[in-house]
Amino acid sequence: MKTYKVGILGGNGFVGGELYRLLSAHPYFEVVFISSESKAGIPVEKTHKAFLYRKVNPKLTYQKMADLTDECDFIFSALPTGILPRHLSDVLDHTKQIFNISGDYRFTDNNVLERYYPASLATSVQAESHYYIPEISTVDPNAKVINLPGCMAVASIYAIYPLVLHSLIEGHVFIDAKTGSSGAGKSSKETHADRVNNFRLHKGFEHRHLPEIDHIAKTYSEHPVDISFAAFSLDVARGIFVSAYSVLKPSVDESDVKKAFFQAYKSKPFIRYSGQASPGPMIKTVHGTNYAETGFVVRDGKCLSLVSIDNLIKGAAGQAIQAANIYYGIPESTGLTTESEGIWP
Ligand SMILES: NC(=O)c1ccc[n+]([C@@H]2O[C@H](COP(=O)([O-])OP(=O)(O)OC[C@H]3O[C@@H](n4cnc5c(N)ncnc54)[C@H](OP(=O)(O)O)[C@@H]3O)[C@@H](O)[C@H]2O)c1
Repeated sequence: MKTYKVGILGGNGFVGGELYRLLSAHPYFEVVFISSESKAGIPVEKTHKAFLYRKVNPKLTYQKMADLTDECDFIFSALPTGILPRHLSDVLDHTKQIFNISGDYRFTDNNVLERYYPASLATSVQAESHYYIPEISTVDPNAKVINLPGCMAVASIYAIYPLVLHSLIEGHVFIDAKTGSSGAGKSSKETHADRVNNFRLHKGFEHRHLPEIDHIAKTYSEHPVDISFAAFSLDVARGIFVSAYSVLKPSVDESDVKKAFFQAYKSKPFIRYSGQASPGPMIKTVHGTNYAETGFVVRDGKCLSLVSIDNLIKGAAGQAIQAANIYYGIPESTGLTTESEGIWP
């Protein structure tokens, strides 16, 4: 099979580091360019701790984005939201496709951008972009920017997708997502002391991941369902845990919910389904992996659906590599089944 030459933008960040680590073991994607503005000229493997003792490509050094040349077949972008639009036309001069992990091209509606992604809108360059969730969306081979979902958004979408797809719920869905500290990136101002032994609201109702969840609910549901979403900060480095509370239609029972989850995810290699949740999804069992665990509890006409993922992998770097595997006709799980799977406790 052909080897593709790939680039990483924002390679010195948390997601960039995970992209580099996972891609260093990928048999068909070879990293030939990796950007950092602050670490240009420094060997990549000096800055990522996974490579302090194990060198895979000691000669590869960071370069500035301005030094991008034509050698990449495609690029993974892990820049902060708002940065890629400023450089989009230059980057597309040198590569055919970008798998973007930030939020810049998740929406084309200017009202949504104004409200939730003003930094993207401010410098937006028209792009043929496509919002893409590997388990749900279809491939658009003409898209120049394939924009991946937000980490808490995608975990929330996995929790409700089978229910809306099979029209099992009505009225209002309340979703809360709890996330670890790496979700805020390496330049977060929050200190370790702020985070440990603590649990707090990050953002209620107005989080920018809400419109994605809403969009999927509207796209796949026969009848409108209202979504409320809040995000909370957890005392862990990695991991997202989502709880979604919905009201089942009067004729729906537990076996319908079970069937819906089974049918939605039976052919999806990275979504695990534990049925009636006990113990159900956990953060520890997805840590370091590209898996999403799903489960649910049904009682008295209500459904509590649950999802756990590793935010840096299934919520970011792993999801993007999974998408690129699919786009380039490579088996979906290539480079994504890791030695971390199943480590306990
Ligand atoms: N963290 C997560 O769990 C997660 C999950 C899903 C999606 N995302 C998205 O993924 C993206 C990266 O997140 P992250 O957590 O890896 O962030 P991060 O740790 O802060 O890393 C971002 C990197 O981008 C580079 N950068 C910052 N400003 C720049 C600029 N003006 N021009 C060029 N490069 C710049 C920085 O590196 P240099 O200064 O070295 O260039 C930095 O290392 C974000 O858009 C985030 O929303 C993150």
